[in-house]
Amino acid sequence: MEWDEGGIHQGLIAKLRNSNHITVLTGAGISAESGVPTFRQAQSGLWAQYDPQQLATPQAFRRNPRLVWEWYSWRRELVNKAKPNPGHIALATMEQQVSRFTLITQNVDDLHRRAGSQNIIALHGDILKTRCIDCHTYTEDALQNENIPPRCFHCGGLLRPDVVWFGESLPTEALEAAFTAARECDLFLSIGTSTLVEPSASLPFIALQNDIPVVEINPEETPLSRSATYQLKGAAGKVLPELVRSVWQV
Ligand code: OAD
Repeated sequence: MEWDEGGIHQGLIAKLRNSNHITVLTGAGISAESGVPTFRQAQSGLWAQYDPQQLATPQAFRRNPRLVWEWYSWRRELVNKAKPNPGHIALATMEQQVSRFTLITQNVDDLHRRAGSQNIIALHGDILKTRCIDCHTYTEDALQNENIPPRCFHCGGLLRPDVVWFGESLPTEALEAAFTAARECDLFLSIGTSTLVEPSASLPFIALQNDIPVVEINPEETPLSRSATYQLKGAAGKVLPELVRSVWQV
C-alpha cells in the first residue's frame, strides 16, 4: 500500500494517465462541500432530532407518510439550492479524458449530472424523482400536488421519493453494471464514502481481488483505508481538481 500524504504520487499519476477504463464510486462526502449533509453527519434544525436510518424505511413511510415526505422535501430543497463543487466538476473532466469511465454513486442528489458527468450508475435512486407506492407510476409534477404526501393521479396511492430505503433491494440492473465495472476497470477510485453500507462497500474490494489498484479519497479513515493501493487523505473538492490537473493538465 502506498501512502500519499498531501502530494500526488508519481506512480498514481502514471496509472491514471495510462488507464483505458476508470471506475469511480462516490458517497455523500463528495456532496458535502456543496452543502448537502453527509448521511452520518448530524442533521440540522428540526431534523436534528431524527436518525436518517429511522426515516428512510418503508415502515417509517407507512407509519407516518407526512413526516417522511416532509424530510425528503427538506433534503430536496437542499439539493436544489446546492451547486456542483470542484470535486464533481473534476470527475466530469476526468470522464472526458478517458476512453471508458463509469461513475457509480450512492448519492441521490443530481450534482454529478449537473456537473456534466454522463455515464452514471445511481445505485440508491434519485431524490428528485417520485413514484406511486402502489402502482409504481412515475409522476413528474407530484410536487405541485397540494396533499402531503401527494397522491397518485392514476390509482390514488401515496407518492414516495424514488430512492432506495433501508431494507429495500437495489435496482438489479444498476447493481450488476456496478459489479462489472469494478471487475473490468484498470483503476478504481472510492471517494467520499464511509464504506459501511453493502453492497456498495464491497465494490472497491472486488477491484482489489481482481488486482486492480484502488485509490481512496477521504479526509477520514474507513474500513477500506488499510487495503487501498493509494490513500489521498483530503477533501474531494481539493484533491480531485489537483489530481486531474497533475495528470491531464486540464
Ligand atoms: P456517510 O455519511 O456514511 O460517509 C460520508 C463519508 O464522506 C465519510 O467517510 C466522510 O469522512 C467523508 N467525507 C466528508 N467530507 C468529505 C469531503 N469533503 N471529501 C471527501 N470525503 C468526505 O455517507 P455514505 O458513505 O455515502 O444509503 O453512506 C452510504 C449510504 O449509507 C448512503 O447512500 C445511505 C446510507 O445508508 C441509503 O440511503 C440506502
